[in-house]
Amino acid sequence: MEFESNHVHAMVLERSRDLPTEAALEDVELVLAELFGTPEEPAWPADRLGADQRELVSLERLQQASGAVESDAENVHRGLYTEHCVICHGVSGSGTGPASMYQWPYPRDFRAGVFKWKSTQRDAKPTRDDLRRLLENGIPGTPMPSFATVTLSDRESLIDYLIYLSIRGEVERQLLALAIDELGYEDTPPPDELRLRVSTAEDEQAEPTEGESAVDEILQEVASEWVQPLVSPVPPEPIPHAADELHASIARGAKLFSGPIANCAGCHGPEGRGGMPPNDLDDWTKEFTSRIGITPTDADAVKPFRKAGALPPRTIEPRRLAGGVLRGGDDPETLFRRIHHGIAGTPMPGIELNESSAGGMGLSPGDVWDLVHYVQSLVRPTPKPSVRVVDDENSAAAEKTGVSS
Ligand code: HEC
Ligand code: HEC
Repeated sequence: MEFESNHVHAMVLERSRDLPTEAALEDVELVLAELFGTPEEPAWPADRLGADQRELVSLERLQQASGAVESDAENVHRGLYTEHCVICHGVSGSGTGPASMYQWPYPRDFRAGVFKWKSTQRDAKPTRDDLRRLLENGIPGTPMPSFATVTLSDRESLIDYLIYLSIRGEVERQLLALAIDELGYEDTPPPDELRLRVSTAEDEQAEPTEGESAVDEILQEVASEWVQPLVSPVPPEPIPHAADELHASIARGAKLFSGPIANCAGCHGPEGRGGMPPNDLDDWTKEFTSRIGITPTDADAVKPFRKAGALPPRTIEPRRLAGGVLRGGDDPETLFRRIHHGIAGTPMPGIELNESSAGGMGLSPGDVWDLVHYVQSLVRPTPKPSVRVVDDENSAAAEKTGVSS
């Protein structure tokens, strides 16, 4: 078991900068091994991180998640990530595990540091609670399973490990880019002063070289983004008290849905029925195709990237909302954030929030709540009052207000 270098990202740099990346890959691999260890023996560079960054993961939990699958006499499990995640997400978190080809959508590549289903701003990392919910529930409507049967403490170890893989992967990407764009790596490495290296305790007296400082700076920058990402606040939901108020809100939402500002229907189809031809890509695919001038359907052009480890490019569907499954959660606050911030890594855009929508370009919080109510009505049409479904939150609430569809 070995961490594989991010050859796809290296090739993207190579093609777009027209420079060789072999020498950079070699040095970055050495730096990563020193900072993060191996899948059998992970390391955590705590002494190079600030106090709150240091505590993002614990070495003990990393050791439980890593390596081969085994249990000791006290029934402490090891190799949790190998056991539960590698088949889809791969040893290095590339999203290209042995079963990844057959998944729809593809498993996440943690190394880009981009996450979709979270309570934070579009560009932010998920909170630890978001990741806990993810392992508890899985991602409905996708192959990502629930890990509710894994003990809570094992799940915490898995979360540490996934944060570790993501930080490792983002540091790798940034070091490669820096090497090519600024440090002068070409066929050979640059002069010693600029070479990417981990400073050692012995040279503590000496000034770190530019290459050594760059490693610490990038490491700290990437780790700091994981420190307490802020949950995006949601304005209070105007709860309709009567059936006709809810109907009015849904009707306003329907109008906004196909109106020019939100234009949700442009992607999700009239009444969210889908059926629009998917012609866009997610960011993970765009990176090695459209963004560097490669047509995703041009098999010859894509071939070198496939050889470097990329999965076959596929378009991303805007999804059918009517009768559909919400992957990121269906509670009102989650839907509000989804519509406000869009979905990171995908073409689904966010929307600017204004106090009032009159004349402006964005939507007001009230408008977004109307859209939430409309989307809820599409996903789960309210049952007729004669239908009594008592174990279902939404219909129970609908019953109280006497809503019929
Ligand atoms: C059977 C395949 C499969 C297995 C096993 C699996 N995943 Fe996933 N995972 C997926 C797929 C597919 C997605 C992408 C879903 C999407 O894009 O909505 C995903 C997405 C994710 C995400 C990204 C969520 C986001 O907000 O973007 C995380 C984190 C994750 N998985 C963690 C894990 C961990 C940790 C394990 C092991 C405990 C695991 N997965 C096991 C298939 C799998
Ligand atoms: C440019 C195209 C585009 C536009 C415009 C767009 N969406 Fe989306 N939307 C997407 C794509 C693509 C996905 C699928 C993302 C995924 O599953 O990874 C999506 C997914 C969703 C989901 C599913 C979230 C989940 O948890 O599964 C909802 C709800 C949604 N969109 C609502 C809206 C609403 C409401 C609007 C208008 C304010 C809108 N979308 C505008 C492309 C778009």
